[in-house]
Amino acid sequence: MLDLANSHRSIRSYTSQNIDDSLLNDLLTAGLRSSSSGNMQTWSVVVTRDPDRKRQLYEAHRKQGMILEAPVVLTFCADVFRMREWIRINESKQSFDDLLGFLTGAVDAVVAAQTICLAAESVGLGICYMGTTWWAADQLIELLELPKGVFPVTSVVMGYPAEDPPLRDRLPLELLVHRETYKQLTDEEIRRLHAEREEKAWARYNSFESLRQRLAEAGIIRVTDFYTSKFKYSKELHREVSEMLIKTLRAQGLWL
Ligand SMILES: Cc1cc2nc3c(=O)[nH]c(=O)nc-3n(C[C@H](O)[C@H](O)[C@H](O)COP(=O)(O)O)c2cc1C
Repeated sequence: MLDLANSHRSIRSYTSQNIDDSLLNDLLTAGLRSSSSGNMQTWSVVVTRDPDRKRQLYEAHRKQGMILEAPVVLTFCADVFRMREWIRINESKQSFDDLLGFLTGAVDAVVAAQTICLAAESVGLGICYMGTTWWAADQLIELLELPKGVFPVTSVVMGYPAEDPPLRDRLPLELLVHRETYKQLTDEEIRRLHAEREEKAWARYNSFESLRQRLAEAGIIRVTDFYTSKFKYSKELHREVSEMLIKTLRAQGLWL
């Protein structure tokens, strides 16, 4: 298990080999075993295999090519709809149609997604998460016909790897782990502990020729500039997506 976790790489290129149904079922069944809040399992997953629907997902996820290559796309959702329906038919007192219901479901969904991803990697499959799920939440709700109470949280492409990428760099443990209480770092510590990331990430981004040119044209000279630029996670994009998310959470009955 430690070896498996320590050898994870996201896979963005896939062979045409399908994942058979019984294997996929085994992986999803392993996901079912995940911890969940109150054992309510307030999550669900939509499995997409149909090429036409995959193409629609590809458009919604800002044209990430791996969607067209991978045989399976999994959209993990926070799901309080199912729980609420069960409560309704038993004529019990209703709950969960609020932000806490959504967050409970979102955490359950991500815990299950990661169980399934590790199980997939353990049998030689590759996976890659897609953060564009948030950006396209309103479109995915329509496309996947998600009822009120269901909200897409993260998506994963899965298939047999057609690439063997090296391990990506990671921040040092001491940046992420705090012993007993949170320790705020000095500027000097922040600089020192990010030095390797700055160097490796910058070298990696510049190794893609077209990106290197776009970075140079935009006057971007370091990795933190890149992260908050129009090419990645700008303030404007964050504001726009955040507003859409609040509106969509309201429409799905998951805000207050
Ligand atoms: C929530 C989440 C969203 C992600 N979104 C994307 C994505 O939209 N496209 C993509 O190519 N990779 C995506 N990734 C993969 C990350 O880029 C990747 O995990 C990170 O760069 C580290 O690389 P590694 O997984 O190969 O170690 C995502 C990962 C996570 C956990």
